Parts: sequence; structure tokens; C-alpha cells
Amino acid sequence: MGMETTQQMKALDERYFMPAFSRDMAIVKGEGSKVWDGEGKEYIDCVAGIAVCSTGHCHPEVVKAICDQAHQLIHCSNLYYVPHQGEVAKKVVEITGMHKAFFSNSGAEATDGALKLARVRTGKKKFVAFTHGFHGRTIGSLAVTHKPAIREPFEPLGMEKTFVEYGDLEGLKKAVDSDTAGVIVEPIQGEAGVIIPPDTFFEGIREVCDKSGALMIVDEVQTGLGRTGKWLGIQHTKVKPDIVTLAKGIASGFPMGALAAREDLEFKKSEHGSTFAGGPLACAASLATLGVIEKILPEVAVKGERFRNGLAKYNPRVRGLMIGITIGDKCPEIQKKCAEQGVLVNCAADGNLRLVPPLTISNAEIDTVVKVLNGTLG
Ligand SMILES: Cc1ncc(COP(=O)(O)O)c(C=O)c1O
Repeated sequence: MGMETTQQMKALDERYFMPAFSRDMAIVKGEGSKVWDGEGKEYIDCVAGIAVCSTGHCHPEVVKAICDQAHQLIHCSNLYYVPHQGEVAKKVVEITGMHKAFFSNSGAEATDGALKLARVRTGKKKFVAFTHGFHGRTIGSLAVTHKPAIREPFEPLGMEKTFVEYGDLEGLKKAVDSDTAGVIVEPIQGEAGVIIPPDTFFEGIREVCDKSGALMIVDEVQTGLGRTGKWLGIQHTKVKPDIVTLAKGIASGFPMGALAAREDLEFKKSEHGSTFAGGPLACAASLATLGVIEKILPEVAVKGERFRNGLAKYNPRVRGLMIGITIGDKCPEIQKKCAEQGVLVNCAADGNLRLVPPLTISNAEIDTVVKVLNGTLG
């Protein structure tokens, strides 16, 4: 396979691919925190596939694990024990403090699995989610995703749910009733633009769930796996959820998601499944990824502080290497100017600039990003 030019990719995209995405550049190569576009221009990547490439692009240990496994067995089906699946499940259980794990192919499917688990084990039907929350775009996960512009065209989505203002415990108390199966919440809202609520919010959710019998589902798809400087975003609080979902950073870009649940909460025979989920390649990639993250985890908070200090005058919201800056209408222009100067950043919702670089980003790279942002933001 030869390398395509950006023009060739654009022409094929315009003719043959449904125009659901907005894009104007191609990324054709990556190494560590750097990527290269179709014209060979180099960038420091503070998007990292939207918080996916946490070990950096093409980390040698992850590449080796995928290649070794590809030579051995690419797929076999969950009709059989799958190489590395149990090892990853053990690791996921250890890092989440949960009891058992289950795999999916994406974050949205992890949400769907969590919603199914909550419904089947509680026998209840309803969910409560929060304004500006994002949990995916499948029919199930979209039902609990707030943003009206992406959800409403597809209603009715067959799920009874209520949206409560993120942070509003009084509203939550009113919304949860005896038929509520679960409350789903992000520890930090990622797509909304890195919104960090007080710890008391999560303590309050736990209390409401304990009183009503609803399950507390924490969506760690974006915040999990070291992104915030701990394995989970919720681990910055003392709260223990009932169900945790993971995806994005779990296998360095190989499609994979997971859910993990506390004791007495598990799928029984035939209640859930998927052809590809937790396959040999995904699990090999994940095992290597989790090993790399374990080594670099202690440095994540320190690197986040380096960003915080460098960007202090813009009042950034920083937890580990999940960083948000409120810019407003100029956000797309800032994103473009940074790209021109070799730094990829991305506009999340509501004019919030988001930085979620590889957890392996070096101090020198952080300093370059800070310099470019300071120059661009003025
Ligand atoms: C918190 C959260 N949950 C779920 C998802 C959906 O994940 P995926 O795009 O892998 O389906 C995302 C994706 O951005 C997310 O940020």
C-alpha cells in the first residue's frame, strides 16, 4: 500500500464517504507525541485521537504486542477462552477496584452494556443523566447523552430518562425514584469541555443511589486509564461506584471498551455478548498499553502542573493531562492557528479548548505547546 496524498484522500472522502465529520487535514504517521500530515508537516499532538493514544503514537511495546498476536491468532470468538482476555479482565478489576469485567468495542458500547446490566440486575427501567454529559451515539448510549442537537433527531430512543443539571444534587434527588435503574455520570465532563465538579457532587450521587437502590454508573471512557493522574477520574474522590465504563485509552487506539462492576453485579449466561469484543488483538494491545501506563502514571499529575503553570493566565481547568480553557467564539480560530504553528488542539463544546495529549508527552514538548498557546491566545 502506497502513501496517499491529502488531495487523493479528500477526493475519495467527498465522493464516497458520508459527510458526518468536519475535517480538512490528513494524519498519516505518528510517533510518540508527534504526528505528520499528508504534506509531511510535523505536529505535537495534544488531541491524541481524543484522549485515546495515551501511550503515544505507535508505542514500541504496543506495536510488538499487536504484531506478535497477529502472527499467532487474530480472532477466534467468545465461544472459546480468548488469549489475554482474562489477563486484561484481571488488570481492569485491579485498577478499578471492581469485581468483574466485560469487554466491548467502543465507549458507546460500554455505556450500552452498563445500561443493560443496570436494568437486568435491578429490574428497573429508568435512568438519570446530566446536562452536557456525553456517553456515546448508539441508540442506547445516545438516550442518556444530553446534547439536544445530536440526540433529538433520533428520539424516541426507547429509554425513559431524565436530565439533571450537572452538579445539582437537589435536582437529582427529585429525579430519582423507585423505578430508577441507574444514574450515569462523568467524573469530569470531557466533550463538554473539561468541566470539573466538586467532590461533594459525587458523594451526593452515591448517597441518593444508596437510598433509592439505583446503581451509580461512572463513565470513565475519557477520564479513565491514567488520563487524570490516577487510574480513574472518580479515584480523586472517596466514592466507589457500582459500575465503571472504560474505552478510549484502553488499547492505545486499537478499538476496545470495557465495563467493570462491583460484586453481585454481573451478566449471566446469554445476557450480553459481541462477536469482536475482547478479541485477541484488542486484548494484546490493551495488556501492553496498561503495562506502559502503569510505568508513566506517577508523572501525569506533574506534567499537568507544568501545563497549569505555563497557561496560568488563561485560568485553565487541569486534572492530570486533561486540560480545558474557556475561549468562546474564537476557539476554532485558535485551533487553526495552533495547527499552523505545529500544535494540534481541539475545540470541545461551548468554546472550550481541550488538550488531552499522550501521557508520555515530554517536558520540552509541553513547553513548546505552552509557548504556541501563549503566542496564539495573546
Ligand atoms: C465520556 C464518554 N463516554 C462515551 C464516549 C463514547 O465513546 P466512543 O466514541 O468510543 O463510542 C465518549 C466519546 O467521546 C466519551 O467521551
